[in-house]
Amino acid sequence: VFENVAAAPADVIFALTADYQADPNTSKVNLGVGAYRTEEGKPWVLPVVHKADKILVDDEYLDHEYLPILGLKKFRDASAKLVLGADSNAIAEGRVGSAQCISGTGAVYTGAHFLSKHYPFKGAACYISKPTWANHRAIFEGVGIPVLEYPYWDPATKGLDLKGMLGAMENAPSGSIFLLHPCAHNPTGVDPTLEQWKQIADVMEAKGHFTFFDTAYQGFASGSLDKDAASIRYFVERGFEMFIAQSFSKNFGLYSERAGNLTVVARTPEIKNTIESQIAKAQRAVISNPPAYGSRVVSLVLNDEKLYGEWTENLATMANRIIAMRQALFDELKKLGTPGTWNHIVDQIGMFSFTGLTTPQVKVLKEKYHVYLTDNGRISMAGLNTKNVEYFAQAVDDVVRN
Ligand code: LMR
Repeated sequence: VFENVAAAPADVIFALTADYQADPNTSKVNLGVGAYRTEEGKPWVLPVVHKADKILVDDEYLDHEYLPILGLKKFRDASAKLVLGADSNAIAEGRVGSAQCISGTGAVYTGAHFLSKHYPFKGAACYISKPTWANHRAIFEGVGIPVLEYPYWDPATKGLDLKGMLGAMENAPSGSIFLLHPCAHNPTGVDPTLEQWKQIADVMEAKGHFTFFDTAYQGFASGSLDKDAASIRYFVERGFEMFIAQSFSKNFGLYSERAGNLTVVARTPEIKNTIESQIAKAQRAVISNPPAYGSRVVSLVLNDEKLYGEWTENLATMANRIIAMRQALFDELKKLGTPGTWNHIVDQIGMFSFTGLTTPQVKVLKEKYHVYLTDNGRISMAGLNTKNVEYFAQAVDDVVRN
C-alpha cells in the first residue's frame, strides 16, 4: 500500500553527524550539531548534573511512575521562574502557565499546535527569522500554519538587519505570529540590543502580533542567566501575552533526556487555566505525559541554592571555552591573512558563528578537509579546540582563496 510514498530528505543536522561519525579520517572536525564539546572534543556531563544523578539514584527513591500530563510541577515552576525572573509580576499575578515538553522542539511544537487549533486570527502566518533553525519551519508547517520569513541577517554588515526586520513586522497583517530568538540567535549568533528590542516591541504591540520566543541557549550569550532573558522579561513587563519554548538540552547538557518547558504568559489566571487545559488534552493524545528523568535533574538543581550556584559555574566553563575558541579562530585567520573581515567571529555570541562561508566552500571543507558544518556556513564553536583550530583556520583560508 505504500509503494507510492516519496522518500523524505534526511535532516541536515543529524545527517551531518552521521556523515562525521562514518568518516574514518583522523583529522575530521565536527562543527555541525549545536552540542557542547570539551577541549578533548568529547561530550561533557556537567559536574552538577553528575552530582544530581547521584542524588537522584542513591538518595532519593527513584520510582518510574507516570508524571502528570503537564509534567513535573516543581520543574515547570522553576523553568518559568528561570526565564521570567523570581520577582516576575506575571507569576505573582497567577497568569503564568506551563507544560513540560519534549525539550525545545516539543515546546515549540506544543505551542504551535495550540495556535493551529485556537489562535483567533484564522490563516495567520508564523514569521521566522531569515535564517533560523531549520526545525522552526518544519514544526509550524507540520501543524498547518503558513510560514513566512522576516529579514534578520545582513550579509553586508554580518550583523542584524533591524530595518528589514521592523519593516516586515510593519507590513505583516495584524495578529501575525512572530517567532523570536531572545538570545544567542541560532544560526547567526547575532542578537538585538535591548534598545533594539524596545523598537521591536513597539511594532509588535502596534500591530497586535503574537510573540513566540524560543530560548535554547539561556546562559550562553551574555554570561548571565538574567541578562540572557532580558528581552523576554521586557516584553512581559510591557504586558505582552506570549509563549516561551525552553530547552535544557544545551545549558544542562541533557540532550538525550528531552527536558523542556512551554511557558505561557496569559492575560488573566482564568485564560492561563484554559490554555493549560487545552494543552493537556492535546499532550495526552501525543505523548500521554512527558519523560521524568531530565526534568528531575533540572528541578533538583534549579530548586537548590547550592546546586544552582554550581550550575552557573558549569555554564561559565562552557561559555568561556567557546569565547576562547572564537578568539583563537579569529587570531589564526588574522595570522594567515585570510582575505575578508573576520571580526564577526568574535562579535557574535552563543554557541554558533555564522561565518559567511558559502555552500560551495562548505562542500570543499567537507570533501577535502573532513570538516563538517551546515551548508549555510554555520559552525558550532564548541566543536573547536586548541588541537584543531589551526587546522580549521588553514582549511578556511584555502577555501576562501581558491
Ligand atoms: C542545532 O541547531 O544544531 C541543535 O539545536 C540540534 C538540533 O536539534 O538541530
